[in-house]
Amino acid sequence: MSKLSASQRAARVAPFIAMDMMREANHLEVSGSDIVHMEVGQPSSAPPRRVIEAAKAALDVDRIGYTNALGLPALRERIAKHYADTYGLAVAPERVVVTTGSSAGFILAFLAGFEPGDRMALPMPGYPAYKNILAALDLGLVGLKTSERTRWAPDVADIRELAHAGEGAISGVLVASPANPTGTMLSPDALKQITQACDDAGIWFISDEIYHGLVYGMEQACALSYSDNAIIINSFSKYFCMTGWRIGWMIVPEQLLRPVECLAQSLYISAPTLSQHAALAAFDAGDELEVHKQMYARNREMLLNELPGVGFSEFPPVDGAFYLYADVGRFTNDSFEFAGKMLREIGVATTPGADFDAELGHRYIRMSFAGSEAQMSEAVKRLRNWLA
Ligand SMILES: Cc1ncc(COP(=O)(O)O)c(C=O)c1O
Repeated sequence: MSKLSASQRAARVAPFIAMDMMREANHLEVSGSDIVHMEVGQPSSAPPRRVIEAAKAALDVDRIGYTNALGLPALRERIAKHYADTYGLAVAPERVVVTTGSSAGFILAFLAGFEPGDRMALPMPGYPAYKNILAALDLGLVGLKTSERTRWAPDVADIRELAHAGEGAISGVLVASPANPTGTMLSPDALKQITQACDDAGIWFISDEIYHGLVYGMEQACALSYSDNAIIINSFSKYFCMTGWRIGWMIVPEQLLRPVECLAQSLYISAPTLSQHAALAAFDAGDELEVHKQMYARNREMLLNELPGVGFSEFPPVDGAFYLYADVGRFTNDSFEFAGKMLREIGVATTPGADFDAELGHRYIRMSFAGSEAQMSEAVKRLRNWLA
């Protein structure tokens, strides 16, 4: 019998619907449609000027070969300094791992810290790639239910219970704060409690801090403030506007460093060298990046004011990141179909909630407000006419 078919394991990996929506939106755009992109979480702004200059300069002086698997020493040092500057934390540069976007950071963390069959708890709704990567690596997932009552943040009591469940206990917890798709930010105290609950239970806590820097009026804390066992994942994609440069980083506990290095060596050798040189300049581009953040803040304000008039009135708190997770249950019980129709009929691309939550996502859509103010206003105008 032929074995030339996709593996069962691959078949378990669901599509990343936001990426599918982007493909469809791009296709319509190329065919002449005027699309407002709210489907994918990527800044409409260009990377900082300094980043581009650093990349150009690197091309003149460096042959852009491989780097050490853990990254350019200068970049690892610069990232470590960022922790001192931003959070007052002393992080040894040796613990910094430069990755091919934070996406590679998850693969490294999951492979380095877990055995096949281990289960990890994640808040629902949550970033789709987590569950898809877990499925690809034969790891299990336990959804942590969230609700308005907990501001869409996981409840530490649920984590404690799952961590001490005996036979079926979880081996780790992964939380993004600010979160995708809800924008929910954990207070420093809530983050501390979760970090310590994982420490007490002797399980890994992975803190996805990719939306740090994009916080609207709340205090942001790094999980390393509460435990050196926390695995920190971060990236140059969002705050630094460098999505396509595929460059991110992790801070890993000492005992995971060598395993992570061995995995990185063979999985991708090293993160893109040109992007590493460019990223070195990103931390000095604060002035430019703050201007973008102010634009997201204005977009957020405008959408929170205008969308209720369009018929979308229920949102999680939108403390950070650049997403709004809107309840569209008034209009549909199938947000997948609703988002597809919205794209085809009025050219507004969003992501259906099923990407983030298999159980309740059918009544939500996620809208990214990382586009320009003109695009966001255009989206509201089109939605108002469409839903009138
Ligand atoms: C919560 C979260 N983590 C990680 C990523 C992956 O980002 P990248 O691989 O570009 O660093 C994203 C992208 O949208 C995200 O929303």
